[in-house]
Amino acid sequence: MSVALPQIHMQQLMLRYPTGKTAISGVTLDIPQGQFVYLVGESGAGKSSLMRMLYGGVRPSSGRLMVQGSDMRRAGDAKVRELRRHTGIIFQDHRLLFARTVFENVALPLRVQGWKTERLVPRVRKVLAYVGLADRLWSYPEALSGGEQQRVAIARAMTANPAMIIADEPTGNLDIDTARRVLDYLTDLNRQGTTIIMATHDLHLLESHPGRVVELHAGRLIADSYSAQPKSDT
Ligand SMILES: Nc1ncnc2c1ncn2[C@@H]1O[C@H](COP(=O)(O)OP(=O)(O)OP(=O)(O)O)[C@@H](O)[C@H]1O
Ligand SMILES: [Mg+2]
Repeated sequence: MSVALPQIHMQQLMLRYPTGKTAISGVTLDIPQGQFVYLVGESGAGKSSLMRMLYGGVRPSSGRLMVQGSDMRRAGDAKVRELRRHTGIIFQDHRLLFARTVFENVALPLRVQGWKTERLVPRVRKVLAYVGLADRLWSYPEALSGGEQQRVAIARAMTANPAMIIADEPTGNLDIDTARRVLDYLTDLNRQGTTIIMATHDLHLLESHPGRVVELHAGRLIADSYSAQPKSDT
């Protein structure tokens, strides 16, 4: 990835819910391909709302939002589906299917995309091995710990080789050591070129896993900095 075209471009972005609540207002922000971005801010600041717009879960009310070349105010269902093929989403509550095995949970995005079984099986095995769960293929999610379930959610998000991963408080329910391990996987994917946008309240994670920190307050962008030098001159 030599040219850093902004993968995400926001200009005076605004989101107002049908209730009349303005969750995001006046946000202007560019995110180049390959960045690791933390979205921080108090509860209700608008982190989840901003992320929802990025994967087409909700449409911006005004302003401009371009994601991977798509205008998200105009994107129809087909366009949103296409975009999601290149986007991994991790929710705080992970949303695993408890009636399906770990294997089937991770295979799901590939099945949706019509992958044939002979191609799908090795890919699912590979991503589950990557998150250290190669031996849990045929387990059901309820037999896994919270951290293991979250790793299944990461495996599912990365299985289709997405250009970006949107993670909404993926470490919210985890102890600090488990949270760090989950972040190790995301950092590693980021090093391979995947853009990561992650909402978090766990600011202590920034010490071990630095990145760009974008702070929202009451729907507005109030700070944008790096928790460590993004590049060193050494
Ligand atoms: N579907 C919705 N309909 C109406 N208002 C909503 C909806 N979702 C969120 N809001 C409101 O928009 C504002 C921003 O909410 P959002 O969920 O984006 O905050 P957040 O920063 O993710 O908070 P948290 O850290 O608690 O997850 C809040 O005032 C919230 O009540
Ligand atoms: Mg939220």
